[in-house]
Amino acid sequence: MTTKSATATRHVVAPLEEFPDGETRIVEVKGRSIGVIHDNGTFFALRNVCPHHGAPLCAGRVQGFMRPSEPHVYDYSGDDADDRVVLCPWHGYKFRLKDGRSVTEPETSRVRTYEVAVEDGEVVLYV
Ligand code: FES
Repeated sequence: MTTKSATATRHVVAPLEEFPDGETRIVEVKGRSIGVIHDNGTFFALRNVCPHHGAPLCAGRVQGFMRPSEPHVYDYSGDDADDRVVLCPWHGYKFRLKDGRSVTEPETSRVRTYEVAVEDGEVVLYV
């Protein structure tokens, strides 16, 4: 989970009832494009810029992925919130929703994440 910094400011994205599961909203906050993603009952927020070549990352599909495994073993993450990813629409790199880390290069390639919460019936982003 992403925690907000002491200087983060609160931004209302939408009323909860107007932001259904499976949707992504792109918002501009402090000059940054940020994707707020509602996936399987959980909200995530990521910078909408792919670290590879700058694609609008959050326009990509949200899905699970095949986890590393032994030969002939297929371990699909499915709806496991720890391993849901957004697939970059340009070249297909996968970034985890929970921490923005690349699936293939988690130590060197990541996208910024932000805290998002539901407060008093509103989806709220902290940037
Ligand atoms: S720009 Fe995202 S994978 Fe290339």
